[in-house]
Amino acid sequence: MDQKTVSPARRWNYWLGGKDHFQVDRDSGDRIAQAYPAVRTAARQGRAFHNRAIRFLAGEAGIRQFLDIGTGLPAPDNTHEVAQSIAPDSRVVYADNDPMVLAHARALMSAGTTTFVRGDLNEPGAILADDDLRKTLDLTQPVGILLIAVLHFIPDDDKARAVVSELLDAAPPGSYLVATNSTKDFVPPHVAAVYDQMLAAGHVDAWPRDKDTFGRFFSGLELIDPGIVALSDWRPDNEERPSAAEVSMYGAVGRK
Ligand SMILES: C[S@@+](CC[C@H](N)C(=O)[O-])C[C@H]1O[C@@H](n2cnc3c(N)ncnc32)[C@H](O)[C@@H]1O
Repeated sequence: MDQKTVSPARRWNYWLGGKDHFQVDRDSGDRIAQAYPAVRTAARQGRAFHNRAIRFLAGEAGIRQFLDIGTGLPAPDNTHEVAQSIAPDSRVVYADNDPMVLAHARALMSAGTTTFVRGDLNEPGAILADDDLRKTLDLTQPVGILLIAVLHFIPDDDKARAVVSELLDAAPPGSYLVATNSTKDFVPPHVAAVYDQMLAAGHVDAWPRDKDTFGRFFSGLELIDPGIVALSDWRPDNEERPSAAEVSMYGAVGRK
């Protein structure tokens, strides 16, 4: 296990209040939190959005198969738990490029109807061609493609769009894309400037996108109401929630 290199999955787990992280992840997490003090709020709101979006897909939209790329370490309400609590026959394929995520997923997520694929979002073709994925998902039937808090690890906009298109091209009409991305749109210029400095210095690795750039991931899809919003404002469960600036992540759901 590499304890010297920051792992986005372990750092995310640190922000979420989990126990699976090393000093290097905590140092990176604290450095980012210094510039963006609400980052823990953003992580928790991200999980809450994940939960609401899957409830929508498994409930209202009737989706029964899910491809969750950028799974993260197990957290309360993993994708298969939320989906199967609504539709027990839901099938889920998780994909992540972090070996520690793989180890945890194998230990905790093996339930027959869930599979884990070690794969890189930069190479969607390899994920889609994986034998275990093909055994679990029927890609002639609608699938919910989840790219939650992972697209911002691909810095290049064209590359990220090509990845999303390749995934959507492999799924039939009636499929859904659920995606989030960090953004500087809601914060004042001096906070955005600090974030830019951290990106330039390599202290942060999540590439923010503005609304138009994020929206292009959904080109050709029907955006589900309320469209592209701060993810805390996407079909919120209650009135009280943090401001868009505190969350600083866009979230949206689109139907092919
Ligand atoms: C911030 S966590 C998000 C976890 C989960 N989706 C959530 O919303 O709670 C990002 C996850 O994406 C994974 N990841 C980052 N870059 C990736 C890539 N190029 N391919 C696959 N997974 C990636 C990390 O290992 C990590 O598990």
